[in-house]
Amino acid sequence: MVADNLTKEFRHAVKKPGLTGSIRHLLNPEYEKKTAVDRISFSIERGESVAYVGPNGAGKSTTIKMLTGILVPTGGQVLVDGVIPYKNRIENARNIGAVFGQRTQLWWDLPVLESLTLLKEIYEIPDREYKKRMELFEDILHLGEFLHLPARKISLGQRMRADLAASLLHNPKVLYLDEPTIGLDVSVKARIRQFIREVNRESGTTILLTTHDMEDIEDICKRLLIIDRGRVIFDGELQAVKDAFAQERTIHFEVRAPLHVGEEELAAQFPGAVLHIPSEGSGFSVRFNRFYYSAGDIIDFVTKRNEIVDIHIDEPSIELVIRQIYEVILTFRG
Ligand SMILES: Nc1ncnc2c1ncn2[C@@H]1O[C@H](COP(=O)(O)OP(=O)(O)OP(=O)(O)O)[C@@H](O)[C@H]1O
Ligand SMILES: [Mg+2]
Repeated sequence: MVADNLTKEFRHAVKKPGLTGSIRHLLNPEYEKKTAVDRISFSIERGESVAYVGPNGAGKSTTIKMLTGILVPTGGQVLVDGVIPYKNRIENARNIGAVFGQRTQLWWDLPVLESLTLLKEIYEIPDREYKKRMELFEDILHLGEFLHLPARKISLGQRMRADLAASLLHNPKVLYLDEPTIGLDVSVKARIRQFIREVNRESGTTILLTTHDMEDIEDICKRLLIIDRGRVIFDGELQAVKDAFAQERTIHFEVRAPLHVGEEELAAQFPGAVLHIPSEGSGFSVRFNRFYYSAGDIIDFVTKRNEIVDIHIDEPSIELVIRQIYEVILTFRG
């Protein structure tokens, strides 16, 4: 999947308030241009799992709509598995699946099962294949409990599971997910993430995921693409971003009593490191900048003074990393 200088401008009417404004607009309409996607370029290989993130209004959904062929770009190129989506919508539809958390693609008044059998006909899926797919969905998504209810009567979590099944029935090469876990409870979220991970791993389906939920990213994606105001501002491996941005590490020690922290020596040897001794338990933690000191040095220091029972090092969360990146964006915006 390739986007090359992909651009989308929207034209919207500018109208002064009130009746006079409306009449004036009728006689002499004025328009304003808004560039939602501004010369975006990226290339995604088959089988990758990419998080496509950015603040509200950054242009994420607009990009996905161009990739699915719903919107025609104003400029630049887009190619998905060798197909130009807006020019060959039918061919593109065979290659892709899409889930939009905000709205369903199921037929509202039809029982879920009938929506799925309709899709089977549309995509000309052989019976055996259909049965196999349905079994896979049943295993993780548990559709059975609501297959016979019309889409409008099922809960949000059930609807999202059904939408996922609908988007994957024809075993597409690419799956677009635009906020697939929005409004779901933790257990449904977990099940959906597990399912997407498996689809990516087992079928090699390329995943492009838009979300504001950092756990979705952590669970599903290996690569991070951040956009802001229609432009790509970061593109790289998730782990690399963590390493580059998350400078702080915390090591938690549990030691056998009595505790010998060596507070003054610690402060002298590792200026800037922050010690935390909880009032309960027999342990403490040290927070430090890993660009200044290595975890090994800190652990050495503690081992010389204590008998260590247990150690763990906090992994920087992607939430923290992305928050830092957003803060940098806002600073540069001025
Ligand atoms: N059909 C449209 N007509 C005019 N402007 C639009 C249209 N669709 C989107 N926009 C504008 O384009 C910009 C990008 O919108 P988009 O929906 O792509 O953002 P997003 O990154 O998906 O945001 P969110 O995180 O809130 O979903 C916004 O300023 C939005 O108002
Ligand atoms: Mg959006």
